[in-house]
Amino acid sequence: MTERARVPGQLPGDLTQRRPVPSDHPRLQVALAEWWGGLGGEAGALQRQLLVPRLFLQHFADTSLLVERPDRTLHAFLIGFLSQTDPSTAYIHFVGVCPEGRRDGVGSALYDHFFATARAAGRSQVRCITSPNNRNSLAYHARMGFRLEPGDRTDDDGVPVHEDYDGPGLDRVSFVREL
Ligand SMILES: CC(C)(COP(=O)(O)OP(=O)(O)OC[C@H]1O[C@@H](n2cnc3c(N)ncnc32)[C@H](O)[C@@H]1OP(=O)(O)O)[C@@H](O)C(=O)NCCC(=O)NCCS
Repeated sequence: MTERARVPGQLPGDLTQRRPVPSDHPRLQVALAEWWGGLGGEAGALQRQLLVPRLFLQHFADTSLLVERPDRTLHAFLIGFLSQTDPSTAYIHFVGVCPEGRRDGVGSALYDHFFATARAAGRSQVRCITSPNNRNSLAYHARMGFRLEPGDRTDDDGVPVHEDYDGPGLDRVSFVREL
């Protein structure tokens, strides 16, 4: 593979980005099942799929992004929106980069693009949550400048956890980043 310089905020190589459309839903469902390294087993895959229903591609497409390779196969995606309730906040709901495309600046390019969209809409902070057992996500968000919000308890690694945040047994870690 040829070496290429990484340009912050830009997609590497021949990748292109566009807004998602409802017909992208089936392949996003496949990615949600297959790109998380089996996190949570079959139940985890189903939970993730149900967390990205088609409505996000119908009603939140302007603040979401999909990345494709030249042959139009799916490489990465970000589902995000501007909070309707809090005019200072934008929210990243889900991000995924295909396993063979990681650590190449794609995730950060998607985030930088979303941050710019949020700033242009007058938002001053971005929020997101993740599962305490998603260590890659914890490391990535720390690297992207997010800070952890205090939780109900801290786990063995000192990570603040909100217990039962999304229902019984559905603990979450909460992140915020100023823009
Ligand atoms: C998390 C994820 C989106 C990161 O995407 P990515 O394209 O690999 O991220 P980037 O290459 O842009 O990395 C951005 C920075 O984070 C760091 N980083 C990324 N993943 C990391 C990890 N697992 N551990 C430590 N640092 C990490 C990179 O080194 C880079 O830092 P640098 O600028 O100092 O080099 C990707 O690993 C993924 O899709 N994971 C599975 C799905 C998931 O967990 N999504 C998040 C919860 S919804």
